[in-house]
Amino acid sequence: MIIAHTIEALEEAKKTLSGSIGFVPTMGALHQGHLSLIQQARKENDHLIVSIFVNPTQFLEGEDLDAYPRKDEADIKICELSSVDILFMPTVNTMYEEDELCIGAPAVRGYVLEGEKRPGHFDGMLQIVMKLLNLSAANNAYFGKKDAQQLALITQMVKNYFMDVHIIPCEIVRDDKGLALSSRNTYLTAEEKERALCLSRSLKRATKLVMAGELDVKKIKQEMLEVLQEADSVEYVSIVNREFKALDSVEIGNTIILVAAWVGKPRLIDNLWI
Ligand code: PAJ
Repeated sequence: MIIAHTIEALEEAKKTLSGSIGFVPTMGALHQGHLSLIQQARKENDHLIVSIFVNPTQFLEGEDLDAYPRKDEADIKICELSSVDILFMPTVNTMYEEDELCIGAPAVRGYVLEGEKRPGHFDGMLQIVMKLLNLSAANNAYFGKKDAQQLALITQMVKNYFMDVHIIPCEIVRDDKGLALSSRNTYLTAEEKERALCLSRSLKRATKLVMAGELDVKKIKQEMLEVLQEADSVEYVSIVNREFKALDSVEIGNTIILVAAWVGKPRLIDNLWI
């Protein structure tokens, strides 16, 4: 495995590759969720590039940029064991200059849910993903459904800017109790981890209701909020179509149910595609 810290080193390392390139961008502190993307990319491509970069422009003032978990040594080992060809770990100065040209998230889809609660987050996220996709020259890039709106916006960016890369959505990985894996779960105490299960439990409740024929969004949300009482506070429960437009009635095959809530220190998100 080649570890590249600069653009020059990455370009040099890429010269050793011939064939299709799969790419998995991450912010590190790798867990089984990241690993599932890495393994899928490994299977479906001749070569595999992974990036680890805690991107400052997608963190808002007062968010956890400085506290974000960093585990470079362990991450390098994981990538090595996963047969990654190139691990790209740039510095902030490598990725950004002053007074940059910026990409803006779309006015509607980029400013609901996560975009409403974290204004500016998606601009920074899209900016770094554009850079990383260009640098990797990947044929296929892998993103988790865990960050459903992120995935939708990246797919839209690739379409709107006619970028030559396939965006591959990957399933959400959970622990054995159902908690969606996240680097930020490391902030949870044991007691909070138990309470954090209410997010996935609320989605399970929604599934049960839909399976029993209940499609009314108001009723489903009400029941979900009951389950979510264990959280410290709920930011949103939302039921939208794949375009992120709010629905009154669940459309089987075209619906995403999303939840964001605070439990202890971290703000947690989870979702379900039906
Ligand atoms: P990060 O949170 O490190 O996540 C990297 C990728 O792993 C994302 O595509 C995310 O959706 C996926 N992922 C995280 N937890 C997952 C889980 N439990 N199951 C499946 N996939 C999961 O998302 C980012 O970094 C950044 O915004 C990034 C795209 C790298 C841009 O900076």
